[in-house]
Amino acid sequence: MFNVNDWQFFFRWLHVIAGITWIGHLYFFNFVNVPLQASLDDAGKKAANPKLLPRALWWFRWGAMITFLSGLVMYALVYMYDPTTGGFAAMGPRHPSSWILMGMLFGIIMWFNVWFIIWPINRRILSGQMPAEQMAGARRRAYLASRTNTYLSGPMLFGMLGANHINTQSPKALIASLIVGFVAIWAAIWHSDKVGQTV
Ligand code: HEM
Repeated sequence: MFNVNDWQFFFRWLHVIAGITWIGHLYFFNFVNVPLQASLDDAGKKAANPKLLPRALWWFRWGAMITFLSGLVMYALVYMYDPTTGGFAAMGPRHPSSWILMGMLFGIIMWFNVWFIIWPINRRILSGQMPAEQMAGARRRAYLASRTNTYLSGPMLFGMLGANHINTQSPKALIASLIVGFVAIWAAIWHSDKVGQTV
């Protein structure tokens, strides 16, 4: 009923909609929540955070997981599946471009940061299990991992889209995508504590 192209398309759709869910929350945390938290006093934080953050972190981490898993499935379907034999080969008929390798490298680092740094630290803080003396250091580690992910997201998306839509794999083009990606995110972060404070 479904052929391999249909499955590829289905997983592509799932991958992108989950990616939007994940990166949308990442941008909410970095462009909205970081400046918001700086403007709240302790009472405000105690009132808002236990209700807001667990919900946002749920969509964030499961979005990351579905993006990651559907990305791996797509890698198998696009680059490992061989329609002439009907089997999977480590070096399938289509060779992965430098774009997708760069995109996946950054995407996998980002997924790791979500599941092994950002979420475990926030879970311990929000459930009251974080000892007070570890709090500042843990907050800082989670913040740096989150900022790293935000910066990586710019070039990561060049990698995802470039695999099918950029016609060169020259190192210059990859480096240009790193620069444009990082600068775009830097500009968004720079603006984030200035914009939208009034209606
Ligand atoms: C977490 C690790 C990730 C892995 C392993 C991964 C893997 C892949 C693979 C294998 C493809 C197919 C490339 C091709 O058809 O040649 C792809 C495409 C794509 N991915 Fe990812 N990805 C990841 C994260 C993300 C994230 C976070 C986003 C953000 C929205 C994203 C958005 C996209 C988009 C927009 C496409 C292109 C679809 C197209 O051009 O048709 N990916 N990804």
